[in-house]
Amino acid sequence: MTQPMMTLNDGNRMPQLGTGIFQIDNDKTPEVVAAALRTGYRLIDGAAAYKNEVGMGEGIRNSDVPRDQIFVTSKLWNDSHGHDEALRAFDATMERSGLDYLDLYLIHWPLPKLDRYVETWKALIRLRDEGRIRSIGVANFHEAHLRRIVDETGVTPALNQIELHPSLTQAEMRAVNRRFGIITQSWTPLGRGDSFEAEPIKEAAERTGRSVAQVIVRWHLQHGLSVIPKSEHEKRLAENFDVLDFELTADEMAAIDRLDNDHRTGPHPDEFDYREQL
Ligand SMILES: NC(=O)c1ccc[n+]([C@@H]2O[C@H](COP(=O)([O-])OP(=O)(O)OC[C@H]3O[C@@H](n4cnc5c(N)ncnc54)[C@H](OP(=O)(O)O)[C@@H]3O)[C@@H](O)[C@H]2O)c1
Repeated sequence: MTQPMMTLNDGNRMPQLGTGIFQIDNDKTPEVVAAALRTGYRLIDGAAAYKNEVGMGEGIRNSDVPRDQIFVTSKLWNDSHGHDEALRAFDATMERSGLDYLDLYLIHWPLPKLDRYVETWKALIRLRDEGRIRSIGVANFHEAHLRRIVDETGVTPALNQIELHPSLTQAEMRAVNRRFGIITQSWTPLGRGDSFEAEPIKEAAERTGRSVAQVIVRWHLQHGLSVIPKSEHEKRLAENFDVLDFELTADEMAAIDRLDNDHRTGPHPDEFDYREQL
């Protein structure tokens, strides 16, 4: 089955459905990446802070899937804000992963109290202009952070990766991103299981004969979101990917939307100021 693709505001194309590799040991990462690629995933969401970029690169290199068919994301960690610091952090990511280029590089958190995200963004623009990154974007940015980088550089991020799942549907930030022409990508899309017992999700799973995780991934896709569920088990990787041949009804979508209770599993972007490695 052909995968749904999205066109970023810079013209590059990206698979809508990918997999994240947070909290996977570096030693295990090559086999998880290999399993994901075998399953059919073509988007791998990594980050310097996950401390498995070595394993990510190895998994990609060892695979039969050509590099140009894989969309690889990494992220600049909080200890590397600043123009020159960002350039060095990018070099370190490339060294660890052994990759020649990244498809997407994100500023992981805005750290508004540190207030160096504009100069950091300028470094990403430079790396993109030098051809070392195909697309550049951000994660956990709010409207004010987006407004500033766009106003001060004229360059709009291609994507904003934010915490988004049925308990935190982020209607407002989705609208903000849409107005800027930025794709929203959902992190912790399964809410790490926190709404698996919710009635509307269980009912939709029963009607469609699918699992609750599949219903949730499908809910993201039908909202036009890019989505990156994580699993280090091949069976679940396959389950989360097997969502392209069924549909939730408008009523089911609306019932899941109503589960929103503003519950974050992660920190608030305006407050989060953590600069150590995770
Ligand atoms: N930008 C950011 O600040 C940020 C923050 C957090 C995460 N992320 C990205 O988003 C990705 C996904 O988020 P996440 O890992 O936090 O959470 P998630 O994808 O919502 O949930 C992952 C958890 O659900 C389990 N799981 C996966 N598939 C399942 C299934 N079909 N049935 C039952 N359980 C299942 C996994 O266990 P097993 O692995 O044991 O299967 C794991 O414990 C990350 O890997 C990372 O790439 C980004």
